[in-house]
Amino acid sequence: MSIRTICCIGAGYVGGPTMAVIADRCPGIQVTVVDLNQARIDAWNDPDLSKLPVYEPGLDAVVGRCRGRNLHFSTAVEPAIAAADMVFLSVNTPTKTKGVGAGQASDLRWIEASARQVAACAQGHTIVVEKSTLPVRTAETVQAILSAAQGDGASGGSPKTFAVLSNPEFLAEGTAIPDLEQPDRVLIGGDDPAAIEALAGVYGQWVPNDRILRTNLWSSELSKLTANAFLAQRISSINAIAALCEATGADVQEVAHAIGADSRIGRKFLKAGPGFGGSCFQKDILNLVYLCGHYGLHEVAAYWQSVVDLNSWQQHRIARLVVQRLFGTVTGKRIAVLGFAFKANTNDTRESPAIRICRDLLEEGASLFIYDPKVKSEQISSDLPETSQIVDSLNCPEAVGKWYLAKSVNDAVYQADAVIILTEWPEFADLDWSTIYTYMRHPSWLFDTRCATNWPQAVEVGFSVWVIGKGIVSNLRMR
Ligand code: UDX
Ligand code: UDX
Repeated sequence: MSIRTICCIGAGYVGGPTMAVIADRCPGIQVTVVDLNQARIDAWNDPDLSKLPVYEPGLDAVVGRCRGRNLHFSTAVEPAIAAADMVFLSVNTPTKTKGVGAGQASDLRWIEASARQVAACAQGHTIVVEKSTLPVRTAETVQAILSAAQGDGASGGSPKTFAVLSNPEFLAEGTAIPDLEQPDRVLIGGDDPAAIEALAGVYGQWVPNDRILRTNLWSSELSKLTANAFLAQRISSINAIAALCEATGADVQEVAHAIGADSRIGRKFLKAGPGFGGSCFQKDILNLVYLCGHYGLHEVAAYWQSVVDLNSWQQHRIARLVVQRLFGTVTGKRIAVLGFAFKANTNDTRESPAIRICRDLLEEGASLFIYDPKVKSEQISSDLPETSQIVDSLNCPEAVGKWYLAKSVNDAVYQADAVIILTEWPEFADLDWSTIYTYMRHPSWLFDTRCATNWPQAVEVGFSVWVIGKGIVSNLRMR
């Protein structure tokens, strides 16, 4: 079966870029991305490509080429499903906040709602593809819902039939377009060979066949959780060693370099930092923990839980050490926070380490002057809901425990006691610390939690400097 029409439910960080690249690489396929959220769809349709709801380098060019040609964004979910040979489910699956499995299991209500919509609106044969990261055996739920509708003939049309595939997405935000254009692998899980080959045929238009892996459904679902758990585990491992380096005088960059040279370990994903963020790592590990508990594998559950616990500890540790260095109190002190996104090159703040670190500092009474090149003020407000925003930075007598969205680095550092780097935006690598020093209150601190600045220059011009995995470097001889 060759696919001519695709519908994707969910126009988020995964659905939007993935469908844009499919449309770009498969001009013969009509792709419609649907979402319940009208504002999000309007943003995807904005003639000004700088206003797309997802910031990803290169995404604007891809959308610019395909939109209106074979890529469409719409809130009309039902007709898009009815017309589709293949429907991708790319809705969000957050961690449950209440009920059975709260705090660990994924909330599948949107997957179920989408599957019901597909069951109701599909016509003829439809291949349903799980794109969202899902707990193992979710395909059973999707299949059960679809089976109930199977065989219904819509007003004399051909009876409905379905095939369910798992096709997890491995793109990382910030590099979504190159990750989609040259993936390490594409994973397709299923038990219907014709459906698997139909999806492989879509990817085959630009991905070499030996990179398209075929597995059973459950292996595919579990591989996504496992890949994220392994990646996150490397970060918790290097962050644990970073703390030990700071205590002993070892340097985590040197240790990472030395261990990464072992080809069995490899160089990637060994950057110590303020802890991992993003929509997937924590959610997927908690899911894995829940699954292990469900199957009575309590030691396995505890093993993976420790990866998340270490990550939370790292975030609190950074907030604590900032307070300690600033003479044990930050009440009323101005602190410039540079970077709020969970990593560079994205406007996404989900689970960003900045959220927990800023919250801790606000609780201690600091006034935070936050600057991020891409994150909007409304986003920070929803991430720090219990705190209040300063609107006029120059006229804020009572700024204790409040935050202000700075318009530039210079705006953020004005009269600040400390600068904390939380995201490795490239522009922070070139900051001129001698100018910044003149704007700040002295003594002035730089806390570089990503080792992403020219911190030796900051030391030279008079800053007290703390760097992740090195500790305080201002009283060390520079290498
Ligand atoms: C989501 C999941 O979080 C992730 O596990 C999975 O791998 C891919 O899908 P993401 O695209 O980053 O990731 O989520 P998000 O940006 O929240 O987008 C989901 C979209 O689905 C939202 O725009 C939401 O409005 C939409 N949606 C949700 C629907 O259109 N219908 C629904 O019933 C529920
Ligand atoms: C991740 C996976 O990489 C991707 O395959 C999956 O599909 C979704 O989850 P993402 O969360 O978008 O992607 O970004 P990633 O680059 O993995 O970074 C996650 C977090 O880990 C970020 O907060 C990042 O700063 C942090 N990180 C990453 C480190 O602290 N050190 C590293 O060496 C790498």
